[in-house]
Amino acid sequence: MTLHARIIGTGSYLPEKIVTNDDLAKIVDTTDSWIQERTGIKQRHIVADDEFTVDLAEHASRRAIEAAGIDASEIDLIVLATTTADQVFPSTACLLQSRLGCQGGPAFDIQAVCTGFVYALSVAEKFVATGTSKKALVVGAETFSRILDWTDRNTCVLFGDGAGAVVLEASEEPGILSTHLHANGDYSKLLHVPSGVSNNLAAVQEGRAYVEMEGSDVFKMAVKKMGEVVIEALDANNLAKSDVDWLVPHQANQRIIAATAKKLGMTMDKVVLTVAEHGNTSAASIPLALDAAVRQNRIKAGETILIEAFGGGFTWGSALIRY
Ligand code: ACO
Repeated sequence: MTLHARIIGTGSYLPEKIVTNDDLAKIVDTTDSWIQERTGIKQRHIVADDEFTVDLAEHASRRAIEAAGIDASEIDLIVLATTTADQVFPSTACLLQSRLGCQGGPAFDIQAVCTGFVYALSVAEKFVATGTSKKALVVGAETFSRILDWTDRNTCVLFGDGAGAVVLEASEEPGILSTHLHANGDYSKLLHVPSGVSNNLAAVQEGRAYVEMEGSDVFKMAVKKMGEVVIEALDANNLAKSDVDWLVPHQANQRIIAATAKKLGMTMDKVVLTVAEHGNTSAASIPLALDAAVRQNRIKAGETILIEAFGGGFTWGSALIRY
């Protein structure tokens, strides 16, 4: 008997506070029309001062667990993708595990920035498909607002906070058909936060504790790699572009998504687009988009979904899913 990992529930959460493009135009030299034309973003959600990554993760996870129709105590693996962990340690996954009351199984964080959810899904799928875990919770959660320089119009208009989650279950029916992950660390300086835990003092003294990005270089590479991973996934499964019912891409920029869809000959009605409502939420963006489409009854059982992402590292990857 071949085991597969199937998605049996999705959930997501956005913080209450909404910051519109016009709100940002009051603090940096920008306009609503510039942001919408270049990115498709209309607004983003930003956490309250006392709200943290684990809070967003918990809301999204509880919704996914409820949708799956299981009890939280059945979760025997948590893989949580985040760039914005609440503490140096323990991992945000461990903090979440305690909140959910499913202690005992492994729980760990994954850091692949905007590709984090695809990485986390790929890792969790291996646990489930090998029979090591029966019910896995895969989460993407970010408080990206905390690593933004709110005086830098090149970056602060692009990102937002949020979380999304899926529950995977071991099944004899195909679920996740393939995953493909990539990275090339030679490009690390094109999109990075130069400071961290070990390498902290100098960067912080220079005021470099926030996201720095070469926007147009990132844009070109994102379009190239997002196109490549789609072809890689289809070839690996002997599928044609027309076999894909839904493309659920990382929600960074509507123009990147449209360019990828065009390369694939996909019409935009087959592409799930939520970037306008929440901006780039990094590792949270794909599960946020997936959950929105599931709850709107757009994605239906048995359909084929391709998810794909590109982000800092650079990292990129895809997952082909039979829903
Ligand atoms: N408001 C108004 N003007 C701005 C703003 C702003 N918020 N930000 C930049 N500009 C200005 C620039 O200063 C520049 O002015 P100049 O010509 O006087 O120098 C002008 O707008 C054009 O800048 P470009 O960088 O050429 O604009 P571009 O069309 O490339 O759009 C953008 C910029 C939106 C950042 C784009 O490059 C992009 O989306 N890149 C990908 C970035 C991304 O998505 N990163 C997220 C992580 S990776 C990922 O998730 C895929």
